[in-house]
Amino acid sequence: MTFEGGEGAGKSTQIRLLAEGLRARGHTVVTTREPGGSPGAEALRHVLLSGAAEPFGVRMEALLFAAARADHLDCVIRPALSRGEIVLCDRFVDSSRVYQGVTGNLEPPLMAALERVSIGATMPDVTLVLDLPADVGLQRARRRAGASTEAATPDRFEKEKLEIHEKRRQGFLDIAAREPERCRVLDASFDVDHIARDILSEVTLVIARQAGGDRDGQAARS
Ligand code: TYD
Repeated sequence: MTFEGGEGAGKSTQIRLLAEGLRARGHTVVTTREPGGSPGAEALRHVLLSGAAEPFGVRMEALLFAAARADHLDCVIRPALSRGEIVLCDRFVDSSRVYQGVTGNLEPPLMAALERVSIGATMPDVTLVLDLPADVGLQRARRRAGASTEAATPDRFEKEKLEIHEKRRQGFLDIAAREPERCRVLDASFDVDHIARDILSEVTLVIARQAGGDRDGQAARS
């Protein structure tokens, strides 16, 4: 299962709460994040988030995100899934689709090729999209960074950036509309506990459905 959304949408808080809720119901849960999550991918996280790769262009960054994702899948995600554990990942392939594909303007065939080599058939069962107007998300993120109320008002440059953030928000909503089976959009402006309850009941349903499917499959095979 993956969590997606813009800055300040509350992904990490919701992942923590969902992990607690699932563990309380007896599940083994692995929480992880991208870019990163495995030693190789964490090395690339530093290169990507420090801005060291930025001068080499969006294409280079997209290749590095894909390389990090391939390593993360090989070293952490697939092994955990094969042990029957639930993996909760903070950002995954939809972030590449939106940040590098939509606002990075990379051509769709390149994005599709990168997905093929980085994830193959390992798509998330459920993707929770935490949706928030970009200005609200940015203010939250800035407050989290410890800025004062005055500094939390966007300046001209930040207003320019706001358009990009709105485009990303729309990018996530478009993916959710295209893949309604996998994606659930949640209004991230509700309070934390309200969202956490919605997520837990949604995810519990999916797990129960999968368990039912597995039993049916076994019955059909036996
Ligand atoms: P991070 O510090 O983890 O922040 P956040 O709380 O927003 O998740 O930063 C990850 C950044 O990397 C974020 O700005 C989105 C970006 N990103 C991409 O551009 N492409 C990707 O494929 C991924 C996974 C992340």
